[in-house]
Amino acid sequence: DALRERLAGGVEGLLCMLTDPVGADLIAAAPDLRAVSTYAVGTDNIDLAAAAERGIPVGHTPDVLTETSADLALALMLAVMRRIPAGDAEVRAGEWLTWEPARLLGHDLHRATVGIVGLGRIGQAVKRRVEGFGARVVHSGRTDGMPVEQLLEEADVVTLHCPLTDATRGLIDEAALRRMGPDAYLVNTARGPVVDTDALRRALEEGWIAGAALDVTDPEPLPADHPLLSAPNLVVAPHLGSASHETRAEMADIAVDNLLAGLAGTPLPHRAN
Ligand code: DGY
Repeated sequence: DALRERLAGGVEGLLCMLTDPVGADLIAAAPDLRAVSTYAVGTDNIDLAAAAERGIPVGHTPDVLTETSADLALALMLAVMRRIPAGDAEVRAGEWLTWEPARLLGHDLHRATVGIVGLGRIGQAVKRRVEGFGARVVHSGRTDGMPVEQLLEEADVVTLHCPLTDATRGLIDEAALRRMGPDAYLVNTARGPVVDTDALRRALEEGWIAGAALDVTDPEPLPADHPLLSAPNLVVAPHLGSASHETRAEMADIAVDNLLAGLAGTPLPHRAN
């Protein structure tokens, strides 16, 4: 509502974040708006078509965050597979009394088949990394790779790198989670609503899958008392995919360049619509 009020007062350029819903209604309430620039690569919070209808270019920040986001996906993958947060919690709780042969056993990434859903820029960067670990890779995309049902059955680790669209919202639902095995892991660094949160909670509580690592959630932020957080074998980060000093600075430069280009009526360095 605050954004809507400010936009009504003759604002011509909007620099927004992924937490700002820029729907058709907001765009309609901004009669002078000529350019939108989001400080993110994902544009699911923006009605790109409504902006295009008004001739408003929308800029975003691809490429510069690809490697940083892939690093975070690997960090989460290894954290959940090798139980690092659980081990850290045990040490802090004074529960590390001796070395034990079967304490906190996880699964090996180098022996795993990793299923990448969405082999775009970030998916490909994840592929390079997990192949470096020795893992086998399969993938499923909108127009290529194997059907997602087959990937869910074959993969030991399912890692999501698709955008949030009507086709991917709720893609990982109860049926999908039941296709994965009790030794399989889910990693979501894409967008929270690609996964059905309640189905994931049940999958972890009832052992349909071995664990999950999330950088994005639905809802987001996830309240500290959310039932999902009581589920076992879950690692959660607060949407840190692109959160390195270097990458966030590069994203800021691109977001500003996109906005200035849009206001000047010249082509945006990175236009999304
Ligand atoms: C994006 O840019 O879309 C990421 O989710 C945050 O950097």
